[in-house]
Amino acid sequence: VADDSDVVVVTGATSGIGEACCHRFLAAGSRVVAIGRRAERLHALADDYDDRLLTIALDIRDRSRVAAELKGLPASHAAVTVLVNNAGLARGSLNMLESSYEHWAEMIETNLNGTLAVTEALLPGMITRNRGHVFFLGSVAGRYPEGAAIYGGTKAFLHHMSQALRRELLGTLIRVTAVNPGSTSTELRAVRLGISPDQVPAGGTPTMMDPADVAEAIFMCNQLPALVNVNHIELMPVMQAFGEFVLAGTS
Ligand SMILES: NC(=O)c1ccc[n+]([C@@H]2O[C@H](COP(=O)([O-])OP(=O)(O)OC[C@H]3O[C@@H](n4cnc5c(N)ncnc54)[C@H](OP(=O)(O)O)[C@@H]3O)[C@@H](O)[C@H]2O)c1
Repeated sequence: VADDSDVVVVTGATSGIGEACCHRFLAAGSRVVAIGRRAERLHALADDYDDRLLTIALDIRDRSRVAAELKGLPASHAAVTVLVNNAGLARGSLNMLESSYEHWAEMIETNLNGTLAVTEALLPGMITRNRGHVFFLGSVAGRYPEGAAIYGGTKAFLHHMSQALRRELLGTLIRVTAVNPGSTSTELRAVRLGISPDQVPAGGTPTMMDPADVAEAIFMCNQLPALVNVNHIELMPVMQAFGEFVLAGTS
């Protein structure tokens, strides 16, 4: 159960779901390590909290820096108990063939290689201490083949890997949860289109979930008794549902 003995590492803490996770765990009294590339956003976040919040401006694709920073955490934040592997992005057209190899590579390097680098740095300590909860942010795009072949593919990888990792960790007290949200009002779309967030209508649309909703779901999974593992959760705004099967040549 999250309390003042918890140290929560959140990647992608500079906006959206990750930032909301920081607020949620800090509100519960946990210590938090907030990671993202945009230092000015991290400074703004740090202004609102005391030294329970540690911020690290870090590109998770830089594996050697990830290892150095996370293995060199100060004693106050070194015994990490919760890892929210949230940093991720979509780039370009969601349609693979209308996008570019460079965009495919950026998604794979961030959503997969970056996430793995962070996990590589923190999971061994959790195993040694026999305490930990690792979250992986997938997406409904990784659960239903709605067309986002590369982005959805990275998210399907994370979902499958997290379930297999659960199996590999059997016998330890480490919990692993895949979180697969639907449409959430964040900067994801602006990043995908390569435009500034202020060029996207403020507040998203009322049909989307708020990032705080997803953060609350993550927090609730962690709040369950330590011997309960939520394997995966899938959540959507009530105004979102599944698409239909398609048959070529029909309309
Ligand atoms: N919004 C949705 O509808 C939705 C639905 C399902 C799943 N998700 C997933 O939820 C997660 C959070 O996304 P979001 O919707 O909250 O989008 P967001 O507002 O764009 O946040 C993404 C975060 O990831 C960070 N990030 C990206 N590349 C990074 C890198 N190389 N190193 C470190 N941090 C990096 C960004 O920070 P910097 O740019 O400062 O580095 C930012 O803090 C993602 O994995 C996304 O795929 C979102």
